Amino acid sequence: MNQGPSLWGWIFMATAWGVILVLTIYCFSRVLLAKKKKTESGGRAQWASRIGLILAMAGNAIGLGNFLRFPVKAAANGGGAFMIPYFCALLFLGVPLMWVEWTMGRHGGVHGHGTTPGMFALMWKHPAAKYLGALGIALPFTIVIYYNFIESWTLGFAWFSGTGKYFGLTTRDAMGQFLRGFQGVEHNQFFASWLPIIFFFALTLSINYYFLRKGISKGIEVLAKIGMPVLFIFGIILAVRVLTLGTPPTGISSVSSGLAYMWNPDFSQLSKATVWLVAAGQIFFTLSLGQGIINTYASYLREKDDVTLNGLSTSMTNEFAEVILGGTIAIPVAVAFFGVVETKLIAQEGAFNLGFQSLPVIFQKIPLGQIFGAMWFFLLFIAGITSSVAMTSPAVAFLEDEFKWKRNRAVNTAFAVLAACAVLVVAFFKFGFLDELDFWAGTFGLVVFATIEIVIFSWIFGVKKGWEEMHIGADLKVPKIFKFILKFVTPVYMLVVLGAWTYQEAIAKFLMKGEEKSRHPYLWGARAMFVSLILITVFMVWLAWRKRKNRAQS
Ligand code: PHE
Repeated sequence: MNQGPSLWGWIFMATAWGVILVLTIYCFSRVLLAKKKKTESGGRAQWASRIGLILAMAGNAIGLGNFLRFPVKAAANGGGAFMIPYFCALLFLGVPLMWVEWTMGRHGGVHGHGTTPGMFALMWKHPAAKYLGALGIALPFTIVIYYNFIESWTLGFAWFSGTGKYFGLTTRDAMGQFLRGFQGVEHNQFFASWLPIIFFFALTLSINYYFLRKGISKGIEVLAKIGMPVLFIFGIILAVRVLTLGTPPTGISSVSSGLAYMWNPDFSQLSKATVWLVAAGQIFFTLSLGQGIINTYASYLREKDDVTLNGLSTSMTNEFAEVILGGTIAIPVAVAFFGVVETKLIAQEGAFNLGFQSLPVIFQKIPLGQIFGAMWFFLLFIAGITSSVAMTSPAVAFLEDEFKWKRNRAVNTAFAVLAACAVLVVAFFKFGFLDELDFWAGTFGLVVFATIEIVIFSWIFGVKKGWEEMHIGADLKVPKIFKFILKFVTPVYMLVVLGAWTYQEAIAKFLMKGEEKSRHPYLWGARAMFVSLILITVFMVWLAWRKRKNRAQS
Protein backbone atom coordinates (compact mmCIF):
# COMPACT_ATOMS: atom_id res chain seq x y z
CA MET A 1 0.00 0.00 0.00
CA ASN A 2 1.83 3.04 -1.20
CA GLN A 3 -0.71 5.49 -2.43
CA GLY A 4 -0.83 9.21 -1.97
CA PRO A 5 -3.90 11.12 -0.83
CA SER A 6 -7.09 10.75 -2.82
CA LEU A 7 -8.67 13.72 -4.54
CA TRP A 8 -10.75 14.38 -1.42
CA GLY A 9 -7.63 14.04 0.72
CA TRP A 10 -5.83 16.69 -1.30
CA ILE A 11 -8.89 18.93 -1.23
CA PHE A 12 -9.12 18.74 2.57
CA MET A 13 -5.43 19.26 3.08
CA ALA A 14 -5.21 22.14 0.62
CA THR A 15 -8.32 23.84 2.01
CA ALA A 16 -7.20 23.53 5.63
CA TRP A 17 -3.71 24.79 4.89
CA GLY A 18 -5.01 27.53 2.62
CA VAL A 19 -7.58 28.92 5.03
CA ILE A 20 -5.13 28.93 7.92
CA LEU A 21 -2.29 30.48 5.92
CA VAL A 22 -4.46 33.23 4.48
CA LEU A 23 -5.95 34.12 7.88
CA THR A 24 -2.57 34.04 9.62
CA ILE A 25 -1.05 36.36 7.03
CA TYR A 26 -4.11 38.60 7.17
CA CYS A 27 -3.90 38.91 10.95
CA PHE A 28 -0.21 39.66 11.07
CA SER A 29 -0.28 42.19 8.28
CA ARG A 30 -3.07 44.02 10.09
CA VAL A 31 -1.14 43.88 13.34
CA LEU A 32 1.92 45.35 11.63
CA LEU A 33 -0.10 48.04 9.90
CA ALA A 34 -2.11 49.02 12.97
CA LYS A 35 -1.41 52.44 14.40
CA LYS A 36 0.44 52.52 17.67
CA LYS A 37 -1.77 53.74 20.46
CA LYS A 38 -0.62 55.88 23.29
CA THR A 39 -2.18 54.47 26.40
CA GLU A 40 -2.00 55.14 30.06
CA SER A 41 -0.34 52.55 32.19
CA GLY A 42 -2.14 51.51 35.32
CA GLY A 43 -0.77 50.02 38.49
CA ARG A 44 -0.48 46.39 37.40
CA ALA A 45 2.30 44.70 35.47
CA GLN A 46 2.07 44.99 31.69
CA TRP A 47 3.31 43.48 28.46
CA ALA A 48 6.17 45.44 26.97
CA SER A 49 5.21 45.16 23.30
CA ARG A 50 2.34 44.04 21.14
CA ILE A 51 4.35 41.43 19.29
CA GLY A 52 5.63 40.12 22.61
CA LEU A 53 2.07 39.86 23.85
CA ILE A 54 0.92 37.93 20.77
CA LEU A 55 3.92 35.60 21.01
CA ALA A 56 3.26 34.99 24.71
CA MET A 57 -0.39 34.24 24.00
CA ALA A 58 0.59 31.98 21.10
CA GLY A 59 3.11 30.29 23.39
CA ASN A 60 0.35 29.82 25.90
CA ALA A 61 -1.85 28.12 23.31
CA ILE A 62 0.76 26.19 21.37
CA GLY A 63 1.71 23.22 23.48
CA LEU A 64 2.09 19.47 23.52
CA GLY A 65 -1.52 19.37 22.34
CA ASN A 66 -0.53 20.71 18.93
CA PHE A 67 2.23 18.26 18.15
CA LEU A 68 1.17 15.09 19.94
CA ARG A 69 -2.55 15.23 20.71
CA PHE A 70 -3.87 16.74 17.47
CA PRO A 71 -2.28 14.31 14.99
CA VAL A 72 -3.42 11.30 16.99
CA LYS A 73 -6.99 12.56 17.37
CA ALA A 74 -7.27 13.58 13.73
CA ALA A 75 -5.92 10.31 12.37
CA ALA A 76 -8.07 8.22 14.68
CA ASN A 77 -11.31 10.10 13.99
CA GLY A 78 -11.80 10.26 10.29
CA GLY A 79 -8.64 11.93 8.91
CA GLY A 80 -9.64 14.73 6.54
CA ALA A 81 -13.29 14.38 7.54
CA PHE A 82 -12.29 15.18 11.14
CA MET A 83 -11.48 18.65 9.91
CA ILE A 84 -15.18 19.34 9.35
CA PRO A 85 -16.21 19.10 13.03
CA TYR A 86 -12.84 20.56 13.92
CA PHE A 87 -13.36 23.73 11.88
CA CYS A 88 -16.95 24.00 13.08
CA ALA A 89 -15.70 23.91 16.65
CA LEU A 90 -12.99 26.44 15.82
CA LEU A 91 -15.45 28.86 14.24
CA PHE A 92 -18.34 28.52 16.69
CA LEU A 93 -16.54 27.72 19.93
CA GLY A 94 -12.82 28.44 19.70
CA VAL A 95 -12.66 31.87 18.10
CA PRO A 96 -15.67 33.33 20.00
CA LEU A 97 -14.43 32.01 23.34
CA MET A 98 -10.98 33.36 22.63
CA TRP A 99 -12.52 36.83 22.24
CA VAL A 100 -14.61 36.34 25.36
CA GLU A 101 -11.60 35.36 27.46
CA TRP A 102 -9.50 38.25 26.16
CA THR A 103 -12.33 40.69 26.82
CA MET A 104 -13.02 39.35 30.32
CA GLY A 105 -9.33 39.37 31.07
CA ARG A 106 -8.72 42.96 30.06
CA HIS A 107 -11.85 44.11 31.84
CA GLY A 108 -10.75 42.35 35.02
CA GLY A 109 -7.19 43.62 34.81
CA VAL A 110 -8.30 47.21 34.44
CA HIS A 111 -10.19 46.77 37.71
CA GLY A 112 -7.26 45.13 39.45
CA HIS A 113 -8.30 41.49 39.05
CA GLY A 114 -6.02 39.14 37.15
CA THR A 115 -8.02 35.98 37.76
CA THR A 116 -11.54 34.72 37.15
CA PRO A 117 -13.00 35.08 40.68
CA GLY A 118 -12.69 38.84 40.37
CA MET A 119 -13.55 38.83 36.67
CA PHE A 120 -16.77 36.86 37.18
CA ALA A 121 -17.74 39.04 40.12
CA LEU A 122 -17.41 42.14 37.93
CA MET A 123 -19.68 40.70 35.26
CA TRP A 124 -22.18 38.97 37.49
CA LYS A 125 -23.20 40.77 40.68
CA HIS A 126 -23.96 37.64 42.62
CA PRO A 127 -22.07 36.25 45.62
CA ALA A 128 -21.66 32.88 43.89
CA ALA A 129 -19.83 34.32 40.89
CA LYS A 130 -16.47 34.59 42.62
CA TYR A 131 -16.62 30.99 43.83
CA LEU A 132 -17.30 29.68 40.33
CA GLY A 133 -14.30 31.71 39.27
CA ALA A 134 -12.13 29.70 41.67
CA LEU A 135 -12.13 26.98 39.02
CA GLY A 136 -10.14 29.28 36.74
CA ILE A 137 -7.26 28.99 39.20
CA ALA A 138 -7.63 25.40 40.41
CA LEU A 139 -8.03 23.84 36.95
CA PRO A 140 -4.84 25.14 35.36
CA PHE A 141 -2.98 24.56 38.61
CA THR A 142 -4.02 20.90 38.64
CA ILE A 143 -3.12 20.50 35.00
CA VAL A 144 0.29 22.09 35.35
CA ILE A 145 1.26 19.62 38.06
CA TYR A 146 1.27 16.74 35.57
CA TYR A 147 1.98 18.85 32.50
CA ASN A 148 5.37 19.78 33.94
CA PHE A 149 6.11 16.11 34.44
CA ILE A 150 5.48 15.35 30.75
CA GLU A 151 7.47 18.45 29.85
CA SER A 152 10.41 17.01 31.75
CA TRP A 153 10.33 13.89 29.55
CA THR A 154 10.76 16.11 26.48
CA LEU A 155 13.78 17.75 28.05
CA GLY A 156 15.22 14.36 28.99
CA PHE A 157 14.65 12.97 25.52
CA ALA A 158 16.18 16.05 23.86
CA TRP A 159 19.30 15.26 25.85
CA PHE A 160 19.18 11.51 25.15
CA SER A 161 18.74 12.22 21.42
CA GLY A 162 21.56 14.73 21.21
CA THR A 163 23.92 12.43 23.07
CA GLY A 164 22.69 9.31 21.27
CA LYS A 165 21.89 7.53 24.52
CA TYR A 166 19.11 5.38 23.08
CA PHE A 167 20.79 4.85 19.73
CA GLY A 168 21.06 1.13 19.18
CA LEU A 169 17.55 0.46 20.52
CA THR A 170 16.00 0.01 17.13
CA THR A 171 12.73 -1.66 18.01
CA ARG A 172 9.62 -0.15 19.52
CA ASP A 173 9.73 -2.72 22.29
CA ALA A 174 13.22 -1.76 23.34
CA MET A 175 12.36 1.95 23.15
CA GLY A 176 9.26 1.28 25.20
CA GLN A 177 11.40 -0.28 27.91
CA PHE A 178 13.73 2.70 27.77
CA LEU A 179 10.81 5.10 28.14
CA ARG A 180 9.24 3.19 31.03
CA GLY A 181 12.58 2.96 32.75
CA PHE A 182 13.03 6.70 32.47
CA GLN A 183 9.50 7.47 33.68
CA GLY A 184 10.06 5.30 36.72
CA VAL A 185 7.36 2.81 35.74
CA GLU A 186 9.89 0.02 36.01
CA HIS A 187 13.56 -0.28 36.80
CA ASN A 188 15.51 -2.03 34.07
CA GLN A 189 18.91 -2.22 32.37
CA PHE A 190 18.51 1.34 31.00
CA PHE A 191 17.48 3.11 34.17
CA ALA A 192 18.12 1.48 37.51
CA SER A 193 16.91 4.35 39.68
CA TRP A 194 14.62 7.35 39.93
CA LEU A 195 17.52 9.76 39.76
CA PRO A 196 17.44 10.70 36.05
CA ILE A 197 13.72 11.47 36.04
CA ILE A 198 14.01 13.42 39.27
CA PHE A 199 16.90 15.37 37.82
CA PHE A 200 15.04 16.35 34.64
CA PHE A 201 11.84 17.08 36.52
CA ALA A 202 13.64 19.31 39.00
CA LEU A 203 15.39 21.05 36.11
CA THR A 204 12.09 21.63 34.33
CA LEU A 205 10.51 23.06 37.47
CA SER A 206 13.52 25.31 38.04
CA ILE A 207 13.34 26.75 34.52
CA ASN A 208 9.62 27.39 34.96
CA TYR A 209 10.33 28.99 38.30
CA TYR A 210 13.02 31.22 36.85
CA PHE A 211 10.79 32.74 34.17
CA LEU A 212 7.81 33.14 36.48
CA ARG A 213 9.90 34.90 39.10
CA LYS A 214 11.12 37.37 36.49
CA GLY A 215 7.56 38.49 35.90
CA ILE A 216 5.39 39.28 32.92
CA SER A 217 7.43 41.46 30.61
CA LYS A 218 10.90 40.42 31.76
CA GLY A 219 10.19 36.71 32.19
CA ILE A 220 7.24 35.32 30.27
CA GLU A 221 7.46 37.78 27.38
CA VAL A 222 11.20 37.26 26.95
CA LEU A 223 10.74 33.49 27.01
CA ALA A 224 8.12 33.76 24.25
CA LYS A 225 10.18 36.15 22.16
CA ILE A 226 13.08 33.70 22.09
CA GLY A 227 11.14 30.46 22.26
CA MET A 228 8.45 31.01 19.64
CA PRO A 229 10.77 31.81 16.71
CA VAL A 230 12.92 28.79 17.63
CA LEU A 231 9.82 26.62 17.80
CA PHE A 232 8.63 27.73 14.37
CA ILE A 233 12.06 27.34 12.79
CA PHE A 234 12.47 23.83 14.23
CA GLY A 235 8.91 22.94 13.28
CA ILE A 236 9.36 24.08 9.69
CA ILE A 237 12.70 22.26 9.38
CA LEU A 238 11.17 19.05 10.69
CA ALA A 239 8.08 19.35 8.47
CA VAL A 240 10.23 19.92 5.38
CA ARG A 241 12.45 16.99 6.37
CA VAL A 242 9.41 14.73 6.62
CA LEU A 243 7.87 15.94 3.36
CA THR A 244 11.11 15.32 1.46
CA LEU A 245 11.66 11.81 2.80
CA GLY A 246 9.78 10.26 -0.12
CA THR A 247 9.94 6.49 0.21
CA PRO A 248 12.72 5.92 2.71
CA PRO A 249 14.82 2.81 1.94
CA THR A 250 14.59 1.60 5.55
CA GLY A 251 10.85 2.17 5.76
CA ILE A 252 8.00 0.07 4.52
CA SER A 253 5.80 2.77 3.04
CA SER A 254 6.03 6.40 1.96
CA VAL A 255 5.38 9.88 3.25
CA SER A 256 2.64 10.42 0.70
CA SER A 257 0.76 7.42 2.01
CA GLY A 258 1.27 8.99 5.44
CA LEU A 259 -0.39 12.15 4.20
CA ALA A 260 -3.13 10.00 2.76
CA TYR A 261 -3.65 8.36 6.14
CA MET A 262 -3.80 11.74 7.81
CA TRP A 263 -6.06 13.48 5.28
CA ASN A 264 -8.14 10.99 3.27
CA PRO A 265 -11.62 11.56 4.64
CA ASP A 266 -13.62 8.82 6.26
CA PHE A 267 -17.06 10.40 5.98
CA SER A 268 -18.73 7.57 7.87
CA GLN A 269 -17.14 8.92 11.07
CA LEU A 270 -19.12 12.13 10.82
CA SER A 271 -22.31 10.46 11.97
CA LYS A 272 -20.71 9.53 15.30
CA ALA A 273 -21.36 11.92 18.15
CA THR A 274 -17.99 11.08 19.70
CA VAL A 275 -16.11 12.52 16.76
CA TRP A 276 -17.83 15.87 17.25
CA LEU A 277 -17.01 15.77 20.94
CA VAL A 278 -13.38 14.91 20.33
CA ALA A 279 -13.10 17.78 17.85
CA ALA A 280 -14.62 20.26 20.33
CA GLY A 281 -12.40 18.94 23.13
CA GLN A 282 -9.32 19.33 20.96
CA ILE A 283 -10.23 22.95 20.17
CA PHE A 284 -10.48 23.87 23.87
CA PHE A 285 -7.35 22.01 24.75
CA THR A 286 -5.20 23.40 21.97
CA LEU A 287 -6.36 27.01 22.27
CA SER A 288 -5.95 26.86 26.08
CA LEU A 289 -9.59 27.82 26.53
CA GLY A 290 -11.81 27.08 29.50
CA GLN A 291 -9.07 27.35 32.08
CA GLY A 292 -8.76 31.01 32.89
CA ILE A 293 -5.21 31.24 31.59
CA ILE A 294 -5.95 33.36 28.54
CA ASN A 295 -7.93 35.62 30.91
CA THR A 296 -4.95 36.06 33.19
CA TYR A 297 -2.57 36.90 30.36
CA ALA A 298 -5.11 39.39 28.97
CA SER A 299 -5.39 41.07 32.37
CA TYR A 300 -1.95 42.59 31.76
CA LEU A 301 -3.31 44.63 28.87
CA ARG A 302 -4.00 48.34 29.04
CA GLU A 303 -7.51 49.69 29.00
CA LYS A 304 -7.64 50.53 25.31
CA ASP A 305 -5.42 47.77 23.93
CA ASP A 306 -7.00 45.79 21.14
CA VAL A 307 -8.44 42.37 21.94
CA THR A 308 -10.23 41.37 18.72
CA LEU A 309 -7.33 41.34 16.29
CA ASN A 310 -4.92 40.06 18.92
CA GLY A 311 -7.29 37.26 19.86
CA LEU A 312 -7.75 36.18 16.27
CA SER A 313 -3.98 36.32 15.70
CA THR A 314 -3.45 34.04 18.67
CA SER A 315 -5.97 31.53 17.35
CA MET A 316 -4.51 31.54 13.87
CA THR A 317 -0.90 31.21 15.00
CA ASN A 318 -1.96 28.22 17.05
CA GLU A 319 -3.77 26.67 14.10
CA PHE A 320 -0.72 27.14 11.90
CA ALA A 321 1.38 25.24 14.42
CA GLU A 322 -1.28 22.59 14.88
CA VAL A 323 -2.68 21.76 11.46
CA ILE A 324 0.27 22.64 9.24
CA LEU A 325 3.24 21.67 11.42
CA GLY A 326 1.69 19.23 13.89
CA GLY A 327 -0.26 17.48 11.15
CA THR A 328 2.78 17.06 8.93
CA ILE A 329 5.37 15.71 11.33
CA ALA A 330 4.47 12.81 13.57
CA ILE A 331 1.85 10.78 11.69
CA PRO A 332 3.19 10.93 8.12
CA VAL A 333 6.67 9.95 9.23
CA ALA A 334 5.33 7.07 11.34
CA VAL A 335 3.39 5.73 8.35
CA ALA A 336 6.43 5.99 6.07
CA PHE A 337 8.51 3.86 8.40
CA PHE A 338 6.01 1.56 10.07
CA GLY A 339 3.16 1.42 7.57
CA VAL A 340 -0.50 2.26 8.05
CA VAL A 341 -1.49 -0.80 10.06
CA GLU A 342 1.12 -0.37 12.73
CA THR A 343 0.69 3.40 12.89
CA LYS A 344 -2.96 2.83 13.64
CA LEU A 345 -1.98 0.64 16.57
CA ILE A 346 0.54 3.19 17.77
CA ALA A 347 -2.02 5.98 17.58
CA GLN A 348 -4.47 3.91 19.60
CA GLU A 349 -1.87 3.56 22.34
CA GLY A 350 -2.01 7.32 22.70
CA ALA A 351 0.05 10.38 22.01
CA PHE A 352 2.94 9.51 24.29
CA ASN A 353 3.92 6.28 22.60
CA LEU A 354 3.89 8.00 19.25
CA GLY A 355 6.14 10.82 20.41
CA PHE A 356 8.48 9.13 22.85
CA GLN A 357 8.65 5.55 21.62
CA SER A 358 8.03 5.41 17.88
CA LEU A 359 9.69 8.58 16.68
CA PRO A 360 12.98 7.77 18.47
CA VAL A 361 13.10 4.51 16.51
CA ILE A 362 12.72 6.53 13.32
CA PHE A 363 15.41 9.06 14.24
CA GLN A 364 17.85 6.17 14.26
CA LYS A 365 17.00 5.38 10.65
CA ILE A 366 17.55 8.78 9.08
CA PRO A 367 20.82 10.62 8.48
CA LEU A 368 21.62 13.20 11.19
CA GLY A 369 18.99 11.51 13.32
CA GLN A 370 20.58 12.66 16.56
CA ILE A 371 20.15 16.26 15.50
CA PHE A 372 16.59 15.80 14.25
CA GLY A 373 15.70 13.91 17.40
CA ALA A 374 17.09 16.64 19.63
CA MET A 375 15.22 19.23 17.54
CA TRP A 376 11.92 17.39 17.87
CA PHE A 377 12.13 17.02 21.62
CA PHE A 378 13.42 20.52 22.16
CA LEU A 379 10.53 21.82 20.07
CA LEU A 380 8.18 19.91 22.37
CA PHE A 381 9.95 21.35 25.38
CA ILE A 382 9.51 24.93 24.17
CA ALA A 383 5.89 24.24 23.27
CA GLY A 384 5.45 22.83 26.77
CA ILE A 385 7.21 25.47 28.84
CA THR A 386 5.50 28.44 27.20
CA SER A 387 2.21 26.74 28.16
CA SER A 388 3.19 25.65 31.65
CA VAL A 389 4.23 29.13 32.76
CA ALA A 390 0.81 30.26 31.58
CA MET A 391 -0.97 27.59 33.63
CA THR A 392 0.90 28.57 36.77
CA SER A 393 0.15 32.27 36.25
CA PRO A 394 -3.42 32.42 37.59
CA ALA A 395 -2.38 31.05 41.00
CA VAL A 396 0.44 33.59 41.19
CA ALA A 397 -1.70 36.49 39.97
CA PHE A 398 -4.42 35.59 42.47
CA LEU A 399 -2.04 35.80 45.42
CA GLU A 400 -0.60 39.06 44.11
CA ASP A 401 -3.88 40.79 43.29
CA GLU A 402 -6.21 39.58 46.01
CA PHE A 403 -3.78 39.18 48.91
CA LYS A 404 -1.39 41.94 47.86
CA TRP A 405 1.58 39.61 48.11
CA LYS A 406 4.87 40.44 46.43
CA ARG A 407 5.53 38.46 43.27
CA ASN A 408 8.43 36.53 44.82
CA ARG A 409 6.36 35.35 47.72
CA ALA A 410 3.47 34.39 45.44
CA VAL A 411 5.71 32.42 43.08
CA ASN A 412 7.51 30.67 45.94
CA THR A 413 4.24 29.61 47.53
CA ALA A 414 2.76 28.36 44.26
CA PHE A 415 5.87 26.32 43.56
CA ALA A 416 5.99 24.81 47.03
CA VAL A 417 2.44 23.48 46.62
CA LEU A 418 3.15 22.44 43.04
CA ALA A 419 6.24 20.46 43.98
CA ALA A 420 4.46 18.72 46.85
CA CYS A 421 1.59 17.60 44.61
CA ALA A 422 3.99 16.64 41.83
CA VAL A 423 5.61 14.05 44.09
CA LEU A 424 2.34 12.12 44.05
CA VAL A 425 2.00 12.38 40.27
CA VAL A 426 5.49 10.96 39.76
CA ALA A 427 5.23 8.25 42.41
CA PHE A 428 1.82 6.98 41.28
CA PHE A 429 2.20 7.59 37.55
CA LYS A 430 2.10 3.88 36.75
CA PHE A 431 -1.26 3.46 38.47
CA GLY A 432 -3.02 5.93 36.20
CA PHE A 433 -2.86 8.93 38.57
CA LEU A 434 -1.87 11.30 35.75
CA ASP A 435 -4.55 10.10 33.34
CA GLU A 436 -7.21 10.52 35.98
CA LEU A 437 -6.21 14.13 36.59
CA ASP A 438 -6.02 14.70 32.86
CA PHE A 439 -9.59 13.55 32.38
CA TRP A 440 -11.20 15.54 35.18
CA ALA A 441 -9.16 18.73 34.92
CA GLY A 442 -7.75 18.68 31.39
CA THR A 443 -10.73 17.33 29.46
CA PHE A 444 -13.99 17.49 31.37
CA GLY A 445 -13.04 20.43 33.57
CA LEU A 446 -12.34 22.81 30.75
CA VAL A 447 -15.63 22.04 29.03
CA VAL A 448 -17.44 22.79 32.30
CA PHE A 449 -15.55 26.02 32.86
CA ALA A 450 -15.93 27.24 29.28
CA THR A 451 -19.69 26.70 29.59
CA ILE A 452 -19.82 28.78 32.76
CA GLU A 453 -17.84 31.53 31.06
CA ILE A 454 -20.00 31.82 28.00
CA VAL A 455 -23.19 31.80 30.06
CA ILE A 456 -21.86 34.60 32.27
CA PHE A 457 -20.61 36.63 29.33
CA SER A 458 -23.48 36.22 26.89
CA TRP A 459 -26.52 35.78 29.09
CA ILE A 460 -25.75 37.41 32.41
CA PHE A 461 -23.43 40.25 31.49
CA GLY A 462 -25.20 40.33 28.15
CA VAL A 463 -24.00 40.24 24.58
CA LYS A 464 -24.79 43.91 24.02
CA LYS A 465 -22.53 45.11 26.81
CA GLY A 466 -20.02 42.40 26.06
CA TRP A 467 -19.82 43.45 22.43
CA GLU A 468 -19.16 47.08 23.39
CA GLU A 469 -16.53 46.05 25.90
CA MET A 470 -14.88 43.83 23.29
CA HIS A 471 -14.69 46.65 20.76
CA ILE A 472 -12.99 49.19 22.98
CA GLY A 473 -9.78 50.06 21.18
CA ALA A 474 -10.44 47.30 18.66
CA ASP A 475 -8.31 47.09 15.52
CA LEU A 476 -10.67 44.61 13.95
CA LYS A 477 -14.39 45.01 13.70
CA VAL A 478 -15.86 41.60 14.35
CA PRO A 479 -18.57 40.71 11.78
CA LYS A 480 -22.05 41.34 13.21
CA ILE A 481 -23.01 37.71 12.76
CA PHE A 482 -20.81 36.89 15.75
CA LYS A 483 -23.23 38.78 17.98
CA PHE A 484 -25.75 36.12 17.15
CA ILE A 485 -23.15 33.36 17.44
CA LEU A 486 -22.05 34.58 20.87
CA LYS A 487 -25.58 34.84 22.12
CA PHE A 488 -27.03 31.59 20.80
CA VAL A 489 -24.72 29.31 18.88
CA THR A 490 -21.76 29.16 21.26
CA PRO A 491 -23.75 28.71 24.50
CA VAL A 492 -26.11 26.13 23.02
CA TYR A 493 -23.25 24.27 21.32
CA MET A 494 -21.38 24.30 24.66
CA LEU A 495 -24.36 23.03 26.62
CA VAL A 496 -24.87 20.22 24.12
CA VAL A 497 -21.20 19.29 24.25
CA LEU A 498 -21.22 19.38 28.04
CA GLY A 499 -24.39 17.29 28.26
CA ALA A 500 -23.18 14.72 25.76
CA TRP A 501 -19.79 14.55 27.43
CA THR A 502 -21.30 13.97 30.84
CA TYR A 503 -23.62 11.32 29.51
CA GLN A 504 -21.15 9.51 27.26
CA GLU A 505 -17.87 9.75 29.13
CA ALA A 506 -17.99 11.27 32.57
CA ILE A 507 -20.44 8.88 34.17
CA ALA A 508 -18.59 5.74 33.07
CA LYS A 509 -15.32 7.36 34.02
CA PHE A 510 -16.66 8.29 37.42
CA LEU A 511 -17.77 4.72 38.04
CA MET A 512 -14.31 3.55 36.95
CA LYS A 513 -15.72 1.20 34.32
CA GLY A 514 -13.06 -1.13 33.02
CA GLU A 515 -10.40 -0.05 35.51
CA GLU A 516 -8.55 -2.72 37.44
CA LYS A 517 -9.62 -2.93 41.06
CA SER A 518 -6.05 -2.55 42.28
CA ARG A 519 -5.90 0.91 40.69
CA HIS A 520 -9.02 2.28 42.31
CA PRO A 521 -7.36 3.66 45.45
CA TYR A 522 -4.89 5.65 43.34
CA LEU A 523 -7.61 7.02 41.12
CA TRP A 524 -9.57 8.08 44.20
CA GLY A 525 -6.37 9.64 45.44
CA ALA A 526 -6.06 11.70 42.26
CA ARG A 527 -9.66 12.85 42.61
CA ALA A 528 -9.14 13.71 46.24
CA MET A 529 -6.16 15.84 45.32
CA PHE A 530 -8.11 17.63 42.58
CA VAL A 531 -11.11 18.28 44.81
CA SER A 532 -8.87 19.50 47.64
CA LEU A 533 -7.18 21.99 45.33
CA ILE A 534 -10.59 23.33 44.29
CA LEU A 535 -11.79 23.59 47.89
CA ILE A 536 -8.62 25.33 49.02
CA THR A 537 -9.03 27.86 46.23
CA VAL A 538 -12.68 28.43 47.13
CA PHE A 539 -11.69 28.98 50.74
CA MET A 540 -9.03 31.47 49.74
CA VAL A 541 -11.50 33.37 47.58
CA TRP A 542 -13.78 33.62 50.61
CA LEU A 543 -10.86 34.83 52.72
CA ALA A 544 -9.81 37.43 50.16
CA TRP A 545 -13.31 38.87 49.84
CA ARG A 546 -13.79 38.99 53.59
CA LYS A 547 -10.52 40.85 53.96
CA ARG A 548 -11.51 43.33 51.32
CA LYS A 549 -14.83 43.95 53.01
CA ASN A 550 -13.08 44.60 56.30
CA ARG A 551 -10.65 46.93 54.59
CA ALA A 552 -13.50 48.82 52.96
CA GLN A 553 -15.29 49.22 56.28
CA SER A 554 -12.30 50.42 58.24
N1 PHE B 1 -2.90 24.66 24.85
C1 PHE B 1 -1.77 23.99 25.35
C2 PHE B 1 -1.55 22.69 24.62
O1 PHE B 1 -2.01 22.54 23.52
C3 PHE B 1 -1.78 23.86 26.83
C4 PHE B 1 -2.94 23.17 27.47
C5 PHE B 1 -2.76 22.03 28.13
C6 PHE B 1 -4.22 23.65 27.44
C7 PHE B 1 -3.77 21.37 28.77
C8 PHE B 1 -5.27 23.00 28.05
C9 PHE B 1 -5.06 21.86 28.71
O2 PHE B 1 -0.83 21.82 25.03
